Amino acid sequence: MAPYAFRRISHMELLQKMYNLFPDAKFFGLYDFLTPIFVIRDPDLISTIAIKQFDNFCDHQGFVNEILDPIAAKNLFNLQGDHWREMRKLFSPSFTSSKMKMMFGLMCQCAENLTNFVITQSGEAIKTYDMKDLLSKYTNDTIATCAFGIEVDSFKNPNNEFFLLGKEALNINNPWLAFKFQMHLNFPQLAKLFKLRMFGPRVENFFKNVVATTVKARDEQGIVRPDMIQLMMENRNNDNGIEFDINEMTAQAFVFFLGGFDTISTAMCFITHEISINPDVQGRLKEEIDDVLKQTNGKPTYEAINRMKYLDAVINETQRLYSIAHFLERKCVKETELPPATPDGKPIVVKPGDRIWFPVFALHRDSKYYPHPNKFDPNRFLNGDVDNSVYMPFGIGPRICIGNRFALMEIKIMLFYLLWHCDIELDVKTKIPLTLKKKTIALWPDGDFWLKLRPKKSKISVTPCLSNGIEGQ
Ligand code: HEM
Repeated sequence: MAPYAFRRISHMELLQKMYNLFPDAKFFGLYDFLTPIFVIRDPDLISTIAIKQFDNFCDHQGFVNEILDPIAAKNLFNLQGDHWREMRKLFSPSFTSSKMKMMFGLMCQCAENLTNFVITQSGEAIKTYDMKDLLSKYTNDTIATCAFGIEVDSFKNPNNEFFLLGKEALNINNPWLAFKFQMHLNFPQLAKLFKLRMFGPRVENFFKNVVATTVKARDEQGIVRPDMIQLMMENRNNDNGIEFDINEMTAQAFVFFLGGFDTISTAMCFITHEISINPDVQGRLKEEIDDVLKQTNGKPTYEAINRMKYLDAVINETQRLYSIAHFLERKCVKETELPPATPDGKPIVVKPGDRIWFPVFALHRDSKYYPHPNKFDPNRFLNGDVDNSVYMPFGIGPRICIGNRFALMEIKIMLFYLLWHCDIELDVKTKIPLTLKKKTIALWPDGDFWLKLRPKKSKISVTPCLSNGIEGQ
């Protein structure tokens, strides 16, 4: 990993380079600093480990220490073994399609705020935007309302605490945060010794306070709202044997913040970038949007947006080319024999504590599975050409991203609203071709994302798609 440590190559490109060195191997080994890693190349073996032998590889390594970051450490990504199983079971029903449908109106409201901001800012002219800043405001407002039950409009009030904390605490491009992340992953004992907190008490106390105040107000005033706090409050009284107090609720709402703030806005940046440099794709998307607007009389519904096949294909193709999680990791918990890496090799025994990576970025760009892999071509997802076992932007098996439906809906709504009201165009600062930054572990381009947005005069009137569903008070 020396070239990565000295910033000569990005983490994902190094892994891709190593992946390409062993075209016939089912897996190969590397050292992540001092930690030996088995990198699995073969999609069938990935499925075996992640699904069939899940009980032997059920844990993530985790990147938060329980003592230093007590609330963040309880988040689902970090939990291990039976504690993870219990919490995943408890939370899975919160992410079903019907629950997502409940939050649809809340997300549309945030997308309306985004487009209204762009229209007001630009008037009828064209204006250049730092897309990460713009889209983080949308993801921030969406998480605040869907997970914490708080309505903040970061476009009107960019100094709200949610937004400021999110930018400060979750920007993985921040070298200090990236360093702490690496330390927790690779040298957990040292991270503990030096008391390296990933988030710290200020962030935790803020969220705990928000959750506690919200729950109290709702209990006292009988407020019912279609969001995560409500779903968790309903679970408080279930006889499921899990202590579901304010700390637990904060930890799980915090997961939304972790998953939803930076990850989704970064994914959206790559998508809007690809749409701007591929005008034919943008044109086809707009046609699909116009069709939906006609069918729904200008009031897009959850079902109508979810039926949009080309929108799906554009999002899927962007996630293939730019998988935000460029590798997945698993920790072995039970001794397991792996088949020989090559036909002339011998089986290898993986021991508890050993770590496994699935090189998603490299697999998604392997010409064996994706012809012309560096080409942005949404059609490959329309023609049934994609083998699902080599497409894993949200992970694989029982540990797959629990928020994937939520993330996809949020992205679709943003794109729908943005393209409904604006044209997305290139700016002089738009990087073509896009190159990936070497100094971060996260997927991020050199030069950031700069695009122009030109509001258009819509022939169809702008009306909210749904009410936000708040009752009581
Ligand atoms: C574009 C946005 C997102 C991407 C690309 C993404 C990707 C991922 C990936 C790759 C994993 C690991 C899966 C595995 O190990 O197999 C994961 C786990 C997770 N994600 Fe997401 N995620 C996104 C958004 C979200 C959102 C919005 C939430 C909020 C609910 C979320 C919550 C989680 C949680 C809780 C886990 C851990 C699941 C577990 O261990 O059981 N993610 N995500």
